[in-house]
Amino acid sequence: MPLSSPPLLPAQLTPRQGSRLVDYDDLLRFTADVFRRCGLTSARAAVAAEALCYGDLTGMDSHGLTNLTRLYLPLFEQGRVDAAAEPMLTTDAGAAVRQDARGALGLWSAAAAMDLAVERAGRFGIGLVSVHGATHLGCAGYHAARAAHRGMVGIVASNCGRQRIARPPGGLRTLLGTNPLSIAAPAGAHHPFVLDMSTTVAPTGRVRAAARAGQPVPAGWLADDAGRTVTDAAAFDRGEAHLRWLGGAAETGGFKGFGLGLAVEVLAALVSGSGRGPEPAALDADGGPSGRDDDIGFFVAAVAPGVLRPEGEVAADAASLFGTVLDCPPADPAAPVRYPGWAEAERAARHRADGVPLSAALFGELTDVAERFDVAAPVVRAEEAH
Ligand SMILES: NC(=O)c1ccc[n+]([C@@H]2O[C@H](COP(=O)([O-])OP(=O)(O)OC[C@H]3O[C@@H](n4cnc5c(N)ncnc54)[C@H](O)[C@@H]3O)[C@@H](O)[C@H]2O)c1
Repeated sequence: MPLSSPPLLPAQLTPRQGSRLVDYDDLLRFTADVFRRCGLTSARAAVAAEALCYGDLTGMDSHGLTNLTRLYLPLFEQGRVDAAAEPMLTTDAGAAVRQDARGALGLWSAAAAMDLAVERAGRFGIGLVSVHGATHLGCAGYHAARAAHRGMVGIVASNCGRQRIARPPGGLRTLLGTNPLSIAAPAGAHHPFVLDMSTTVAPTGRVRAAARAGQPVPAGWLADDAGRTVTDAAAFDRGEAHLRWLGGAAETGGFKGFGLGLAVEVLAALVSGSGRGPEPAALDADGGPSGRDDDIGFFVAAVAPGVLRPEGEVAADAASLFGTVLDCPPADPAAPVRYPGWAEAERAARHRADGVPLSAALFGELTDVAERFDVAAPVVRAEEAH
């Protein structure tokens, strides 16, 4: 397996100055302790902690621990998540089931849904768990990769309930959330393929991280009402700019991103019967973000190619497919060609060994949380000077 450094993802915007390198196992311990204090069982807290820390471990840090104080603890405080909820199957058709998550913590319930999808796929070749009544699942890729680690293809799509962030191209009202989509697959001896993305050009978390760091966002992420490019990240929360779809303007493929966002709404919300972004009431809003991300819908599926043809053949073909991609001659010899999931896996291995970098500001937030919940703060291994 090639070991050269992976290219940086486009927007690692978190300031590095004074970052702490935190022991990964202890970060999991801290996060699980906090979730236990919020009422989760130890088993649920451990899975939820792994799902949340996955963001920081892999560098998808817009959906890592930064969301503990911004999203998950407020959900508990506002009674919008039920730590003890028992998700219930309301339809069981064998390969496909419908589940009411009953407001359980999405970080845990999406993982449990994928485990059920994998179990059904082992029997039928495919397993679908269609979830409504769900709450925020964090990084979709964490849950999709659970299937890849068991030799299957995992597909996860989540809508954002009735939360509306992005407008249709050419429209004046927000109608959809950032609707993440992830597809993961084993790649033989190579790192698993894990495509994990918002269907908008970036999630709001990355725009807000840039605003907090006083940095601009790349041209193409934000536009004003007239469609002009905006790079001032803070303009988003001032209501002076809106988030674009993957592909950007209509001429550069924005309808493909918008179409993908709607496809997620179909798979995750229409199939399950969860809350939806586009509903007539949305047209009464003032054009800025509106609605709440309650009653979220998940599409959680596993496909087991090994049920259809010999597992050894599938594994050899996957190794060849992704190995050929890795062997593609690069335009820049210093930037080897990689596929989605590769850099995240390399980073995760490095962070497991050396510690997970957390900005000084985020570490401060976690220390405050530790005090508030009377749990031990995460153990720092080193402080990064640069
Ligand atoms: N729960 C929610 O409501 C919600 C909403 C939006 C996003 N998210 C999550 O936010 C996270 C970040 O999303 P994002 O859109 O900012 O992701 P991103 O733009 O960082 O990456 C998108 C994909 O591109 C791949 N990629 C990026 N640079 C690459 C390179 N140089 N070589 C090869 N592959 C490369 C990544 O591996 C990834 O699969 C994801 O985990 C997503 O699930 C969650």
